[in-house]
Amino acid sequence: MNKYDMSADIERVLLSEQDLKEMVSRIGKEICQDYQDSRHPLILVSVLKGSVVFMGDLMRAIDIPCFIDFMSVSSYGAGTTSSGVVKIIKDLDTNVIAGADLLLVEDILDSGKTLCYLKQLLQTRNPASVKICTLLDKPDRRTAPIQADYVGATIPDAFVVGYGLDYAERYRNLPYVGILKPSVYGGE
Ligand code: IMP
Ligand code: MG
Repeated sequence: MNKYDMSADIERVLLSEQDLKEMVSRIGKEICQDYQDSRHPLILVSVLKGSVVFMGDLMRAIDIPCFIDFMSVSSYGAGTTSSGVVKIIKDLDTNVIAGADLLLVEDILDSGKTLCYLKQLLQTRNPASVKICTLLDKPDRRTAPIQADYVGATIPDAFVVGYGLDYAERYRNLPYVGILKPSVYGGE
């Protein structure tokens, strides 16, 4: 154990490395099945930064040709609830997405405000389709009219970190998903 033991801030492990591996492999198969006969190029769009770990594993679980791109938006400050304001920090590198199948890859669907906004924005660029793939889904917290097409796991309303998910930019490098101790973010 090192002196910066991040696991000390975790209340309990929600998804182990093995759970995550199985989830990614299942979703990868579903995606291949659904897109293998499409005539359109498939672009996986990772929503930075939370989805990078998931994206890295997911793209290797997809064995049909695909492209990758990244967008960065911010909807959260250092707190744990959505500000409702979505800011585009980095747009796609690909400037023409007309006629492509876009698959947005997210870490977690919470209020849904971020993805609702992104989906609408991307739809104005005339892609052939836009679907959503999220590692985690917190349906109890949804306020925007949006749902994911591919979900790794549906989880209860708790603040989770690890496998890309952060609290104030920390814990992204934990290899599992865990519930953060409320005392860490000043909760009860
Ligand atoms: P939404 O717009 O409320 O759906 O917010 C989605 C974004 O909020 C995610 O991409 C995460 O960056 C962040 N988020 C929501 N819930 C959590 C959580 O439990 N842990 C870490 N980040 C979260
Ligand atoms: Mg995020």
